Amino acid sequence: MEVIIQKDAQAATDLTARLICDAVQSKKDSVLGLATGRTMENLYSNIVKRYQAGEADFSRCATFNLDEYVGLAAEHTQSYRYYMNDLLFSKININLEETYLPNGVAPDLAEACQQYENKILDKGGIDIQLLGIGNTGHIGFNEPLSSLASRTREKALAPITLEQNGPLFDDPAEMPRRALTMGVGTILDAKKIILLATGKSKAKILAKAVEGPITSMISASALQLHPHCVIICDEDAAEEL
Ligand code: GLP
Repeated sequence: MEVIIQKDAQAATDLTARLICDAVQSKKDSVLGLATGRTMENLYSNIVKRYQAGEADFSRCATFNLDEYVGLAAEHTQSYRYYMNDLLFSKININLEETYLPNGVAPDLAEACQQYENKILDKGGIDIQLLGIGNTGHIGFNEPLSSLASRTREKALAPITLEQNGPLFDDPAEMPRRALTMGVGTILDAKKIILLATGKSKAKILAKAVEGPITSMISASALQLHPHCVIICDEDAAEEL
């Protein structure tokens, strides 16, 4: 695991965007694993700027998002499909049909998860998986006690996550209690992983993930097992390392 500490959030975000755009330029048909959350908002606007400056061509890329809330359709403004369309897909030259998220409104969720895994395999696996980190130490929505070998499945959200993401909903009580998420095992299958963490609020959990024991209580700690994982953070998030 390589840890790269940048001066501030902007520099950490900028480096992450550059690595992703460089990867897409060197392999035009890259399969990208994408994440959501507040940290990624600035990242996607940075990627859009780079696209507009001619630094990346996404026309042959496919993307797979980590997760989606159960019960939120694409039109719901808090669904991750809406987030991705709004912040990234509508602003770059990607083929929308090659952008995939777990289907949180499928009639059979277990079947939808299996199909998602199959689709990733069909596309040859994920070249670069982008990750944030939640306050429980989750990657995707792999809450504490997620098996390190887990695959895409339905997961109940932890109270800390409901607290963290609830404020993004008009009425926090509206936030779904369950989500579909790639498993830790699915994530570890990516050829390369970049985790971006910024701000003091991430310092404690990042230190546990990077320097603590590998444990299913903190799914991000499983990244220590990955041969090509880069952690990009700012000085604030690195404070406890
Ligand atoms: C959500 C997502 C995670 C993401 C986390 C961090 O819970 N499911 O994939 O890492 O948010 O969010 P933020 O960037 O808002 O701190």
